[in-house]
Amino acid sequence: MVGEDNEVMRNIKARRSVRDYLDKPVSEESINHIIDAGIYAPTGFGSEPWFFVVVQNKEMMKRMSDYCKPKLLAQLKDMPNDNVTEFKKHLEHEDFDIFYDAPILVIVLGSNAGFTTDYDCAMCAQNMMLAATSMGIGSCWVGTACFIQDNVEFMSELGIPYDYRVIAPIVFGYEKVSRERPPRQDPRVVWIH
Ligand SMILES: Cc1cc2nc3c(=O)[nH]c(=O)nc-3n(C[C@H](O)[C@H](O)[C@H](O)COP(=O)(O)O)c2cc1C
Repeated sequence: MVGEDNEVMRNIKARRSVRDYLDKPVSEESINHIIDAGIYAPTGFGSEPWFFVVVQNKEMMKRMSDYCKPKLLAQLKDMPNDNVTEFKKHLEHEDFDIFYDAPILVIVLGSNAGFTTDYDCAMCAQNMMLAATSMGIGSCWVGTACFIQDNVEFMSELGIPYDYRVIAPIVFGYEKVSRERPPRQDPRVVWIH
């Protein structure tokens, strides 16, 4: 089939969420390349509504993790889904780090002024994760970290402008042990001829 097996297709299928990182830094140059890939995403009205905060401070990441864990636990309290139950067990563990001890966190923020900000920033995030994969760098979108949005101290410490919201907190790092890519269910597709 045309285009079935090329570098882009292979890279898309090679990406997976990495939750086990080597104690090895990701260079600032690599992060700049990753952000550069992000900003080539399409945006509604060409709005480019993003703002990036790069966090390398482990002490701060730990504080954010400790703040977010109980918040998510409270929200997931009554959800019976199997995947959720599994994740709840991790969250309840005192040592669990929502950032998986990754060396770097990039928070993609979006402007409240945009009409399509959530879509735009999500596509930016996917570009970033795919770019990272192509560079041999693992990543994981850590939605749990969005709770920092409710905390004015964190928002100020991170230098986040008042009219921006947290959309995609993504950790990056080198994967400890390469794992199987999770399988996908067959997509539901309707063709209208
Ligand atoms: C919006 C969003 C939020 C997510 N939040 C988390 C999270 O808080 N913690 C986590 O470990 N993974 C998180 N993930 C990663 C998903 O769990 C993961 O993408 C999914 O299980 C599929 O696995 P794959 O990325 O390896 O293909 C999130 C992904 C998305 C798109």
